[in-house]
Amino acid sequence: MTLEGARRRIERLRQEIEQHNYNYFILNQPTISDAEYDGLLRELQRLEEQFPQLRSPTSPTQRVGAKAQSEFKTVRHSIPMLSLANAFSDDEVRAFDARVKQLAETEEIVYLAEPKFDGLAVELVYEDGVFLLGSTRGDGEHGEDVTHNLKTIQSIPLKLRASKDLPIPKKLEVRGEVYMELSEFRKLNQARSEAEEPLFANPRNAAAGSLRQLDPRITAQRRLQIYCYDMGQANGITVRSQRELLQILPQMGLRVCPLWRLCATVDEALAFYRELQAQREELPYEIDGVVIKVNDFELRRALGEVSRSPRWAIAYKFPPKQATTRVREIIVQVGRTGKLTPVAVLEPVSLAGITIQYATLHNQDEIEKKDIRIGDWVLIQRAGDVIPEVVQTITKRRTGVEQRFSMPQRCPVCGHKVVRLPEEVDVRCVNLSCPARLKESILHYASKGAADIEGLGERWVEALMKAGLIREIPDLYALKDRQIELVRLERMGAKLAENLLNAIEKSKNISLARFIYGLGIRHVGKQLSELSARYFRTLDAFMNASEDELLKVEEVGPTVAQSILSFFKDKRNRELIQKLLKAGVVIEARAQQTVSPQPAGKTFVFTGTLKTLTRSQAEELVKAAGGRVSANVSRKTDYVVVGEEPGAKLEKARALGVKVLSEEEFHALVT
Ligand code: IVH
Repeated sequence: MTLEGARRRIERLRQEIEQHNYNYFILNQPTISDAEYDGLLRELQRLEEQFPQLRSPTSPTQRVGAKAQSEFKTVRHSIPMLSLANAFSDDEVRAFDARVKQLAETEEIVYLAEPKFDGLAVELVYEDGVFLLGSTRGDGEHGEDVTHNLKTIQSIPLKLRASKDLPIPKKLEVRGEVYMELSEFRKLNQARSEAEEPLFANPRNAAAGSLRQLDPRITAQRRLQIYCYDMGQANGITVRSQRELLQILPQMGLRVCPLWRLCATVDEALAFYRELQAQREELPYEIDGVVIKVNDFELRRALGEVSRSPRWAIAYKFPPKQATTRVREIIVQVGRTGKLTPVAVLEPVSLAGITIQYATLHNQDEIEKKDIRIGDWVLIQRAGDVIPEVVQTITKRRTGVEQRFSMPQRCPVCGHKVVRLPEEVDVRCVNLSCPARLKESILHYASKGAADIEGLGERWVEALMKAGLIREIPDLYALKDRQIELVRLERMGAKLAENLLNAIEKSKNISLARFIYGLGIRHVGKQLSELSARYFRTLDAFMNASEDELLKVEEVGPTVAQSILSFFKDKRNRELIQKLLKAGVVIEARAQQTVSPQPAGKTFVFTGTLKTLTRSQAEELVKAAGGRVSANVSRKTDYVVVGEEPGAKLEKARALGVKVLSEEEFHALVT
């Protein structure tokens, strides 16, 4: 391809991708599939690699370009980012309304009410429509330069959109809230829990922690979002009201939450508050109230500010999802890796419509820090759907009969002594044969992301263990020889037993990634299992990897490497794997072998002009992937790759039933 050709194609791809971003994030109306979108992005990436002189900082490929930093630079906000005064009752909101009317010397005030997003405030600076600088709110005067991280957020445009009646402003400072959707938050915490990393308490902390990552690649994985709601300096554009702002921003490609309402009276604003409160649990993100703002900007300037808060706005907060109850008892649970977790058994209490009976106490340090005793009244809260936790102890309500709690010296299940490693807050049962650990490890092995044995939940694992039918994972595969005893289990019966045995048999064919995950190695969650499987390809290679080799796997650091090494150093773990293989477990060499074809050993024929590659570059790619290129289509041809204006070879391929690939599909196959 010529330089000029590449320039045209690159320009076209960038425009197309930007349009798709706009359709997806602003209009909520995607017009292509994720795979097609990825195809466009990959094509652009390849062209930019091939023609480095055509690269551009605003290209959609530049979202995750930057390297990790050692610290964030400080940024001064040209106009301070204020905070909002809070209201906790209708009366306080009415008082706000009365104040505004008095100061403005009019009864005719129009408000615009919006959700109060529970994330963190940022400022985006666009100059001549190009995203140049992004910062956190910080103390309102100074924030941190998190430009590289903000660039990874797909819904932040790297370039503003121009439209007919809306010229690109010379300068525009846009403010908004970066947040994490609840589904993303749950996924993140799930992965962290599997890897035994500390959980984020709520989506806001997760968003803040993700945005303040020194390595933008980590931020990129967290899938943050933004809603814009305010502006700072603006040159070359006039905006007269909040309503106008919320209409203009999306036209420029900036994302705005559609849940806003223009309110002619304070009562309308209060009604909006109640509507949103009712809707709150159904929203895919967390909000903690409603912000009521004077709509007119002229009037805002007249009202001014007091003690770092504007007089023209107020945040009417929702009541917190908190409740008080008593700690009846503190029990200790033993996890798969032997970790002992103290859990408070509570007097049942209703919280945001759900009955709460347990709250996690995390560990001994946490119990001491909050001075939680058995019999105490405590304030609990549910944040972002995680297991409820104790916010604080209500010491005023103590009667003197409360008892301090300390973690047991011995495992509550097997009686083996427990240890607390020097650098760790957690106490662990180190007995690998501890029934609690065995039970959890069997459940983990049977779980969806691992062997996926349908129907084998906690109840059956407990029953099977109690009846002495299983003790450890490999025993599952011997159950078929104990069918009579199995059927006799309470509530089992012939049909269920048969289903269960079938599900167990089915799980014998397992991908390497699932198998690794199923072993339940500390710190090795689904993602790491996937990456390790891809890197090592065979179980043997993984089991016998040295520390240096393990460290070469993406995302594996020293802690994880050590954990894997010590897992395989243990003879019992190796024996367990041997038993599984002997029982007939077959590890498929590559998980997706059947779905994703391999180019190695295959014969390719090209027809037509390729957009991104010369013929010889394409042939290079085939050879590099271990395939062959042939000039003519025959029954022996595996793939015919079709470019623009294909010749008769395409017809022949179709006649012979040879698989036809588009240029994008070809790229996906060989790169
Ligand atoms: S307007 C001074 N609108 O609330 C007015 N803020 O306490 C500028 N926030 O730091 C902010 N949702 O993080 C505004 N719809 C919304 C908001 C919102 C959340 C946060 C923002 C700000 C804090 C002020």
